[in-house]
Amino acid sequence: MSKLKTYKDIEDLIIKYGYDIISSPGMQSEKKFIQHGNISCYHHSLSVAYMSVWLAYKMKINVDMKSLIRGALLHDYFLYDWHIPDKSHKLHGFHHAKTALENARRDFSINDCETNIILTHMFPLNLKLPRYKESIIVNIADKICAIFEIFRYNFVDISQVEVK
Ligand SMILES: [Fe+2]
Ligand SMILES: [Fe+2]
Repeated sequence: MSKLKTYKDIEDLIIKYGYDIISSPGMQSEKKFIQHGNISCYHHSLSVAYMSVWLAYKMKINVDMKSLIRGALLHDYFLYDWHIPDKSHKLHGFHHAKTALENARRDFSINDCETNIILTHMFPLNLKLPRYKESIIVNIADKICAIFEIFRYNFVDISQVEVK
């Protein structure tokens, strides 16, 4: 953690711990789904992973880095475009964390910390309390990224973590 200095260091960590997730068909399909502004759910999820690692580093919090990154990458793994009107997309803000968790459990092996990160990332909109410091970090990172994205400020160049 103390050696983390540049974007490249964060990218290396994301690739190290999240490559199987990033390269999976499910995560790749997120490129089709808009999250905020003109940012895809795929881009948003990588941004949240970046921001989570950066926050942990800046606040000098000793974290389970692998769980932090994997939980951040999967926090919005609901796999649909919530802007398309559909009965199943109603109240998206309240339900998508649970859908993301179901999909993540189906496609990956996830631990308790990663489960809690996904399930509580919408707190306080969802009343499930974050139980791990990693959950709190992703919760905050998600909100910061959402604000940047709504104002179309792109702070992460995802080309480095793009998988071909
Ligand atoms: Fe979300
Ligand atoms: Fe999110």
